[in-house]
Amino acid sequence: MVAQATSSPTASDRTSTSAPRKIEVDNLRLSYGPKEVIHGISFHIEPNEILGVIGPAQSGKTSLLRCINRTIEFTAGAKMSGKIRIDGEDTQTIQNVYELRRRIGMVAPLPVGLPLSIYDNVAFAPRAAGQRNKGLLDELVERCLRQAALWDEVKDRLDSLGTKLSGGQQQRLTIARALSHEPEILCLDEFSIAIDPVTTMRIEDVLKELKRHMTIILVTNLVQQARRLAARTMFLWNGEIVEIDRTEVMFSDQPKDRRTYDYVNGIFG
Ligand SMILES: Nc1ncnc2c1ncn2[C@@H]1O[C@H](COP(=O)(O)OP(=O)(O)O)[C@@H](O)[C@H]1O
Ligand SMILES: [Mg+2]
Repeated sequence: MVAQATSSPTASDRTSTSAPRKIEVDNLRLSYGPKEVIHGISFHIEPNEILGVIGPAQSGKTSLLRCINRTIEFTAGAKMSGKIRIDGEDTQTIQNVYELRRRIGMVAPLPVGLPLSIYDNVAFAPRAAGQRNKGLLDELVERCLRQAALWDEVKDRLDSLGTKLSGGQQQRLTIARALSHEPEILCLDEFSIAIDPVTTMRIEDVLKELKRHMTIILVTNLVQQARRLAARTMFLWNGEIVEIDRTEVMFSDQPKDRRTYDYVNGIFG
């Protein structure tokens, strides 16, 4: 705590607001070996906000998410500097990194189903955390599957293999799994890259609903998806923030940076 009481501009700004921002990223840099891929970026996310993150491949979007939940530590040679605070707390000083990761649900671009039944996929993390009460597990599995808009399609076959579901269903199962940790923050990394538009729209409806309970970072390859869902959008390019603003500004005829206009209008990227 003492180490946090520095005179960084962000820390002092924060004293003027009543509640801490949900996430605050302050001068974040990331290198893989000698190669720096995130070049000192700063931004924040408010509670219950959906922040859209757009940008071409290799811009550092996935790396940014991995810095936030500290899975970047699994990559040998990755070195991060700067600060990431959640509810005002420096994530680097959080002792219980498993608890930090529990608080941050992560949905990868391709569904990553465990070779288990639908039920067991969702019950896996709560069981690993010690939950043994069948009644409570049943409730939790149903709630998460409902939140992921999958319950009606699978409620009669919870014992069949999750990996036998269609691509879109598996991606919703992945979301149900992420929700089973009861996260405060949900990070989605190009979740719709391998699913059809109809399922994508269903999941978008799910996200609108989930926003009431959590803060969402929506990394998306579909700029229109950010437009549909995000209150603010950040355009990341080559490890730098080109622009971050209210989504309507980013998609207007006059964003601050010409590159934003070109990117959201498909002129490049
Ligand atoms: N594990 C890794 N080791 C080395 N370089 C990596 C690793 N992961 C990503 N990179 C590099 O970091 C940069 C950003 O990648 P990434 O975060 O995956 O971007 P995006 O998600 O926007 O496509 C790229 O140049 C990529 O090659
Ligand atoms: Mg990526």
